[in-house]
Amino acid sequence: MKIGVPKETKSMEFRVGATPTTVAGFVQHSHEVVVEKDAGEMVGFTNYMYVKAGAKIAQTPREAWDCDMIVKVKEPQGLEFSYMHEDQIIFGYLHLAPDQEQTRLLLEQKVVAIAYETVIDEDGRLPLLTPMSEIAGRMSVQAGAHHLQTTNGGRGVLLGGVSGVLPANVIIIGGGVVGTNAAQMALGLGADVTILDNSIRRLRELNDIYHGRLKTLFSSKETISKLIQHADLVIGGVLIPGKKAPNLITEEMVQTMQNGSVLVDVSIDQGGCFETSRPTTHLNPTYTMHNVIHYCVTNMPSACARTATQALTNATYPYAIRIANNGYRKALIDDKLLRQGLNIHNGVVTNSNVAQDLGYEYVSPDKILNL
Ligand SMILES: NC(=O)c1ccc[n+]([C@@H]2O[C@H](COP(=O)([O-])OP(=O)(O)OC[C@H]3O[C@@H](n4cnc5c(N)ncnc54)[C@H](O)[C@@H]3O)[C@@H](O)[C@H]2O)c1
Repeated sequence: MKIGVPKETKSMEFRVGATPTTVAGFVQHSHEVVVEKDAGEMVGFTNYMYVKAGAKIAQTPREAWDCDMIVKVKEPQGLEFSYMHEDQIIFGYLHLAPDQEQTRLLLEQKVVAIAYETVIDEDGRLPLLTPMSEIAGRMSVQAGAHHLQTTNGGRGVLLGGVSGVLPANVIIIGGGVVGTNAAQMALGLGADVTILDNSIRRLRELNDIYHGRLKTLFSSKETISKLIQHADLVIGGVLIPGKKAPNLITEEMVQTMQNGSVLVDVSIDQGGCFETSRPTTHLNPTYTMHNVIHYCVTNMPSACARTATQALTNATYPYAIRIANNGYRKALIDDKLLRQGLNIHNGVVTNSNVAQDLGYEYVSPDKILNL
């Protein structure tokens, strides 16, 4: 199979879909790999390193996209849709539920779009989202701490406090991968941390792990409403896979928060879980509304692009190589968990949550594969 690795074009996106190590893996299995010039430059993977691994360097994006399968990081942008062709496999993060326009364009191009974020594993977890959620969860606390500083417009609270002064009050909504990693960081810095989830089972697990160091609460609108009035930092990391994020903090509730407090909406890639959230970039990561600082960067891990690229490709390569070796049909037939990743196939939506959120007819992957 001919595999293309384009340079990412989303604003401030420095990750790359394959490293020289994973390229060498594809080549060892007799695949042809085309890496766009300077695709890995920002993370220390030079064109020479890719050539040594067996790749051909494409001088233009069009050349890198002229392949059977595209292995990338973030959702396609602008001109990239015009490089696609029918039956081409697009393997990357897509986050379609809040993105009507991207969905329409992928349907029009009749591609086979397999989204990292909806592939599941035997435990029902999201193996291709997890590494980025670990990074974003940890970063959410760093971002929050930074913007809480008076010098950055925040209310001037140090997360850990000092002797004789209370630590910051950190509220984390969603106790999954983002939430747990955020909690670890915030606890490590000495903050007072409360985590909310609507899964009692998850709250029980967190209680067992943290032995009371972390406060756990069942998530409800009333509880969130009360808690955020006294919060310094609120982090949103909820997810219903494939669906647009639920709106858990309304604009009215934001108005009750303390001046200079900070909201970090990690779920912004699925549309955001605060009503006042709108996507931002690393170039201009925050805005202030009702005197509350909002941080809503949709590709947070790109700020730690080398760590993120290595963590991401460690997770994606085992799936990508199976798709390349067997073709997407056999790979999806053989693995019902990878099949969950199929979001779009030849002009139809094949993820029920995306179809429901965007008003498309849903056709199951099983039907597409004649199973
Ligand atoms: N902005 C970024 O750069 C970035 C990077 C990585 C991940 N993310 C996003 O972060 C979000 C969380 O990812 P994750 O890997 O932690 O997911 P996860 O599935 O591990 O955890 C989500 C948690 O949310 C909980 N939840 C669902 N509905 C809830 C509700 N109403 N109230 C409270 N909790 C609720 C679930 O029970 C689950 O524990 C996703 O949208 C993901 O795409 C964003």
